[in-house]
Amino acid sequence: MKTLLVVYHSMTGGTRQLAQAAARGAATEPSVVTRVLTAKRAGPDDLLSASGYLFATPENLGAMSGLMKDFFDRSYYPALDRLNGRPYAAVICAGSDGENAARQLARIATGWRLRAMAPPLIVRTGAQTPAAILAPKTIAQADRQTCQALGAALAAGLGMGMF
Ligand SMILES: Cc1cc2nc3c(=O)[nH]c(=O)nc-3n(C[C@H](O)[C@H](O)[C@H](O)COP(=O)(O)O)c2cc1C
Repeated sequence: MKTLLVVYHSMTGGTRQLAQAAARGAATEPSVVTRVLTAKRAGPDDLLSASGYLFATPENLGAMSGLMKDFFDRSYYPALDRLNGRPYAAVICAGSDGENAARQLARIATGWRLRAMAPPLIVRTGAQTPAAILAPKTIAQADRQTCQALGAALAAGLGMGMF
């Protein structure tokens, strides 16, 4: 059985809902096991034992969130040259931007020689004020569905051996 690893961090719940939606989509592929881990718990062994990845992070202060970066910092060299060619997808949850977090994540994935199976999916909550930014998030159904479809496509491709 191939494994799809979903790694995410979330402070106010938006990214968590997107990661869970992707995992729900992936679970529709019976020949693939989907593992969902928070960035804090995930590490290089989890990467090595999976065949494909979905990374989901908030954009905080124009960058991927600190705990997501910590996951990549801890995992980058132990996994280097051992993931070459595996597929991945990236999901960014942002208030109004998200582009730089997407760029940073793509750069790390390029270093690992991962293959992007889709352009990064950036979901914007529209939160602008401090109160709105710190409030718990509810991701719109349409965005959750898009993320679910992304998870399903990634798992289906893995299951069929397309990647
Ligand atoms: C400290 C902090 C910095 C943020 N910086 C950005 C930013 O640079 N660009 C942006 O689009 N959104 C920014 N946001 C908004 C978050 O990306 C947005 O609220 C998103 O929903 C966070 O994901 P989460 O709900 O999974 O924590 C920031 C939020 C916080 C708390």
